[in-house]
Amino acid sequence: MLRSKIAGIGMYVPPHVVSNNDLIQFMDTSDQWIQERTGIKERRYAHRTDETTTTMAVEAAKVAIERAGTKAEEIDFIVFATLSPDYYFPGCAVLLQRAMGMKEIGALDVRNQCSGFIYALSVADQFIKSGMYKNILVIGSEKHSFGLDFSTRGRNVSVIFGDGAGAVVLQPTQNENSGILSTHLHSDGDNAELLAMYNPGTHANHWVKDKLADFDDAAIGEMFMSHSMIDHAQNFPFMDGQAVFKKAVVKFPEVIMEALDANNKKPSDLKLLVPHQANLRISQFVQQKMGLREDQVYNNIDRYGNTTAASVPIALCEAWELGRVSQGDLVCLASFGSGFTWGSALLYW
Ligand code: UT7
Repeated sequence: MLRSKIAGIGMYVPPHVVSNNDLIQFMDTSDQWIQERTGIKERRYAHRTDETTTTMAVEAAKVAIERAGTKAEEIDFIVFATLSPDYYFPGCAVLLQRAMGMKEIGALDVRNQCSGFIYALSVADQFIKSGMYKNILVIGSEKHSFGLDFSTRGRNVSVIFGDGAGAVVLQPTQNENSGILSTHLHSDGDNAELLAMYNPGTHANHWVKDKLADFDDAAIGEMFMSHSMIDHAQNFPFMDGQAVFKKAVVKFPEVIMEALDANNKKPSDLKLLVPHQANLRISQFVQQKMGLREDQVYNNIDRYGNTTAASVPIALCEAWELGRVSQGDLVCLASFGSGFTWGSALLYW
């Protein structure tokens, strides 16, 4: 049976390290609060003008392509997941295609936030299994630092997020002990407004005013982007952290079990679970709930924070570089985030 395998993986994080203490100059927070609530010690911020979501993706892609033993000219499709694109449109995939001098191949952007990489991987997996493409570049990349509210008003969101990129090259394999076994994707749009950035958008507050009781509606009916929206912080991400947390700790185990059950596997069969790095407390809860040992779960949120679409490929890349996964190992990738959307992928490395 034809499957797709991760033939090469790469990551890039900007060199600029921002510690929790560095954030204190902008907002009322503390290293203790951030570490206790999230497990984050530091994160990376991209260079304000010299690095973009796409340029970071290019760096990660170069490594993945080289490790896959292929060349940029041989890539036949791009799937790019991000919530922090260089432009509102067009998407980042075409910018990457241009930057890497690729052929006039298909280039698709995926907008599924924290689940973006798993959605992107699933799309690429179907194209490989159908025989349509043979060398797909799948990316997750984010430059959050450019769009966060660094005042005390935005502290529950801004301390969490960091910048970076991860990339894989998917290729076909006939090897029964290698490749993606299955992917599982879900959504619940009822909670779309609980973790969202409302503007720029075309909604004129149509959805928001009904969903959020205390929503500051001074900007109702305003065009795409206005001064009023900026004054009311509607151009920054909003998160009801507790609601997201409560849903995440249910949906993570559920979607991981769905992947295991679909393939007649048990949690104990897993060599490694690589969860989206949203909060160390969420990962620890999932580990405990599923009866996994500490060495079966990979966490690196302490060093990078939450890099949204980039977090799973960055964590997987690090885990592979550290020898935590090797050929034939059973690995589960899982994510949950804005939308809400969530998903999992089970694979033999
Ligand atoms: O990746 C996408 C999915 N995202 C997630 O999965 C995130 C899930 N949620 C979380 O991780 C947590 O809810 C947070 C880490 C975001 C927040 O932790 P929490 O324990 O839920 O805190 P909270 O929002 O309930 O806030 C508790 C207190 C509040 O103060 P009062 O009202 O008790 O006086 C906040 O104002 O902590 C305050 N607070 C802060 N204090 C210092 C909020 N953010 C900060 C901060 N520094 N950065």
